[in-house]
Amino acid sequence: MTGPITTNTFRTAIVPAAGLGTRFLPATKAVPKELLPVVDTPGIELVAGEAAEAGARRMVVVTSPDKQAVVDYFDSRPDLEEALEKKGKDALLEKVRRAPGLIDVDVAIQEEALGLGHAVAQAGPVLTDEDDAVAVLLPDDLVLPTGVLSKMAEARARYGGSVLCAFDIPKERISPYGVFDVSDTDDGDVKQVHGMVEKPAPEDAPSTYAAAGRYLLDRAIFDALDRIGPGSGGELQLTDAVALLIEEGHPVHVVVHRGGRHDLGNPGGFLRAAVDFALADDEYGPALRDWLKQRIENVD
Ligand code: UTP
Repeated sequence: MTGPITTNTFRTAIVPAAGLGTRFLPATKAVPKELLPVVDTPGIELVAGEAAEAGARRMVVVTSPDKQAVVDYFDSRPDLEEALEKKGKDALLEKVRRAPGLIDVDVAIQEEALGLGHAVAQAGPVLTDEDDAVAVLLPDDLVLPTGVLSKMAEARARYGGSVLCAFDIPKERISPYGVFDVSDTDDGDVKQVHGMVEKPAPEDAPSTYAAAGRYLLDRAIFDALDRIGPGSGGELQLTDAVALLIEEGHPVHVVVHRGGRHDLGNPGGFLRAAVDFALADDEYGPALRDWLKQRIENVD
């Protein structure tokens, strides 16, 4: 008899949350953007749920000394739980207990916001011998519906190396993104990556596959991160370390996610996500829908 087939090739999810959040100033002077609520739930809880659902057992939150609240959010609050219990507020109690029960949380500190690559590198020392690969989830990028990490794990089980996530974007709207140079595999949703171009003009884009904030990275990435220098914006870029791995012959693939996405990193994208989630909410959806319809009729 054979055992269950497991494609779960990672147990640790790294969530970088040490950025300055400048696009969300002035709120981010005092509130980390990862804690801004989409309806009532912070973005970082949504990605923690996604990581747990994909089989991760532990989340390493990379944060800065002044953003400790991001990690505190995953601690339990017995005092609050007791107060809610006494009042019989069971639904709220369940919500309050959800984040601490989702996944084990460890912390790595990035003293200075020197870039996404630098943030991921700070998680290196807390990895164990079992971590042959790690998932990286950007908490300001919601990839919907969830499930792409499991497909990425399947691709790593098949091809080895590292697997990234891409969206197929119409060519005329490709310019704001990092775009992959790819070739086909026998699976229409999995492409081999040969390189990447940041923010190309539509006519220079090597494909219509744009990068999203989900990565399943072979442990070799940490060695590559040690060997890159500052890139775009003077920051240590994760994509430069991935490019180095490709140059050195490591297999890198993308899974094309056929779904939606919300960018929580700027007020416009965040508002869209909040409206999208609120419309789907049993409690707030119906009234919001009616109000929005009326409000939109009155827009000039
Ligand atoms: P972003 O570029 O979206 O976040 O990085 P940011 O730098 O905070 O935002 P702006 O550009 O100033 O508005 C994606 C994720 O990577 C983290 C961020 O916290 C965010 O979750 N990050 C970014 C770090 O942890 N460290 C960094 O040095 C940069």
